[in-house]
Amino acid sequence: MDTPNTQPEARKKRILSCIQPSGIPTLGNYLGALKNWKTLADEFDGAFAVADLHAITVRQDPAKFRQQIQQVLALLLAIGLDPEQSILFIQSHVPAHSQLAWILNCYTQFGEMSRMTQFKDKSQSHADNVNVGLFAYPVLMAADILLYQADLVPVGADQKQHLEIARDIANRFNTLYSPTFTIPEPYIGKQGARVMSLQSPDKKMSKSDPNPKGYISVFDAPEVIMKKIKSAVTDSEGCVRYADGKDGINNLMSIYSCCTGLSDAQIEHDFQGKGYGDFKVAVAEAVIEELRPVREKFDRYMGDKAYLKDVAAQGAERASRIANRTLQKVMKKVGFVLP
Ligand code: TRP
Repeated sequence: MDTPNTQPEARKKRILSCIQPSGIPTLGNYLGALKNWKTLADEFDGAFAVADLHAITVRQDPAKFRQQIQQVLALLLAIGLDPEQSILFIQSHVPAHSQLAWILNCYTQFGEMSRMTQFKDKSQSHADNVNVGLFAYPVLMAADILLYQADLVPVGADQKQHLEIARDIANRFNTLYSPTFTIPEPYIGKQGARVMSLQSPDKKMSKSDPNPKGYISVFDAPEVIMKKIKSAVTDSEGCVRYADGKDGINNLMSIYSCCTGLSDAQIEHDFQGKGYGDFKVAVAEAVIEELRPVREKFDRYMGDKAYLKDVAAQGAERASRIANRTLQKVMKKVGFVLP
C-alpha cells in the first residue's frame, strides 16, 4: 500500500495579472510583460485575466470591443499559457469582481483616489468623459487581486501606485475586521524591457500613440515591422553603442537584446564599424522572428471560436470558485445576511 505523503509540497505562491482588451497589445506590452507570463505560469500558481470591465472606463466601440476581448484571450494562449495549468478567464464572467469592487468602494476614501496619477492623466486625455468608473478603477483592480488572495502581482511603473492602494485597502479591511485578504507584493521580474516609442524614444511605446509609426503591434505584418523600425528615430553619431543621450539607439538595442538574448556589449561588438541601416535591419528581423510563432498560434486560436469559448467557460468556473469563497468571507464579516 502506498504510504500517503505526509510532507505536503510547499504551496506555490499565487500570481495574478490582467491585461485590458483596449486595443492590440504592442511590442512593448509583449517584451515588457507578456513574454514573461509563461515563465511565471511555470514557477507560480498563475491566474491571468482579460480585464474587460476596466476597459469600459474609456468609450469602446461594441463590435471592436467584442473582437478585442477574444483576441486578447487568444493571445494569452498564443504566448503559451496553458488553460489546464493556469486559470485563464475573462473578468466580466466572474461577477464577484464587480461585487467585491462595490464593497471595497465603501472602504476607500475619495481623497486617496483623487491622488492617483493615472486618474489625473486620464481625466486630462479624456476630458469629455471623466466618469466615476475611471475614478474607481483602482478599487476594481484591488478587487481583482484580493479575490484570489494573490501573493504576487507583476507590475510596471504605471501600475505601482494602484498596487499600493490595493495593499492599503486590504490592510484596512483586515484591521477593521480580522485577517481576510493576503497582502499582495509587487513582483519585479528580471529586466522586462521598457520599450520606448520608435518616434519619440523618450516616451514609452503606447498603442494610443496618434502616430502609428511610434509603435509596433504584436500583429503587424513583417513588412510593416521592417518599415517602422527602419524609420525609427536615432541620432547622428552613427555608432551602435549604449550611451546617455542616445535614446533611439538605446531603445533599439534593448529590443534587440530582448529578442536575441545578446548583451549590450556583444551587440556593440557585433555592429562595430557598421551603420544604423544594417543594425535596424537586424533588429527588425529579430522582432519579426520573435513575433512569428505568436502570430501563427494566435491565428489558429482565432479560427476556433468554439475552443476559445470553452477555455473562457472553464476558466470562469475555476476562477469563480476561488473568488466566491473570498467574497462570502467578506460579506459575512461586513454583516450581510448570506443568501
Ligand atoms: N490596470 C492594469 C493595466 O492597465 C490591468 C489590470 C486590471 C491589472 N486588474 C489588474 C493588473 C490586476 C494586475 C492585477 O495594465
